Amino acid sequence: MIISRRTIRRFHQKPIKLGILKKCVDAGRLAPSAANLQILEYCIVTDKKLCDQVFDALHWAAYIQPKWAPKETERPTAYIVVLVKDTKNPYYERDVGFATENIVLAAEGEGLGSCILCNIEHAKIQEICKIPLMLAVDSVIALGYKAETSVVEDLKDSVKYWRDEQDILHVPKRTLDDIIHINTFS
Ligand SMILES: Cc1cc2nc3c(=O)[nH]c(=O)nc-3n(C[C@H](O)[C@H](O)[C@H](O)COP(=O)(O)O)c2cc1C
Repeated sequence: MIISRRTIRRFHQKPIKLGILKKCVDAGRLAPSAANLQILEYCIVTDKKLCDQVFDALHWAAYIQPKWAPKETERPTAYIVVLVKDTKNPYYERDVGFATENIVLAAEGEGLGSCILCNIEHAKIQEICKIPLMLAVDSVIALGYKAETSVVEDLKDSVKYWRDEQDILHVPKRTLDDIIHINTFS
């Protein structure tokens, strides 16, 4: 799952059971946490009206031009908003990273696709979900049953992901040889 998981941005409109979404958050809850301070909370959004409002506060796939977003019939059917109790904690972004990876892998295990979004309108989301100001909106994980295919390819000259004529997303990744150094760099 770790190897095959890819970001998915187009979804079938079949709803996700709340129990499955809670299971994903539980995977986040159990992630490593610096000094075990557990500074993260989560808001699960499934209500159609709220989902539509959250959708309007998200920015998708910046590399795809012209400007692109999922169509009305391909939108995520749920969101997990990741909240931070203490952004002064010097390790909070690491906690978010570990928890988020656990969540997207748990989602993958449930047959769901996911997209982590940091390019979001924080204040709008805070207001839509009535999140108290003592909690900072960090990011949003968009979720749904997968309605697109994404494949990895070896990075050549650009990190920009792209779509081919069959609408398959291609994600360039640096090769293993490019990033591994054994013993020394010589
Ligand atoms: C911290 C972070 C922020 C991201 N923010 C966005 C975003 O705002 N919008 C979006 O469409 N994708 C976003 N992504 C998804 C990345 O574009 C995606 O992970 C990357 O292209 C690699 O593809 P992969 O996840 O399939 O390996 C984000 C991913 C991460 C880790």
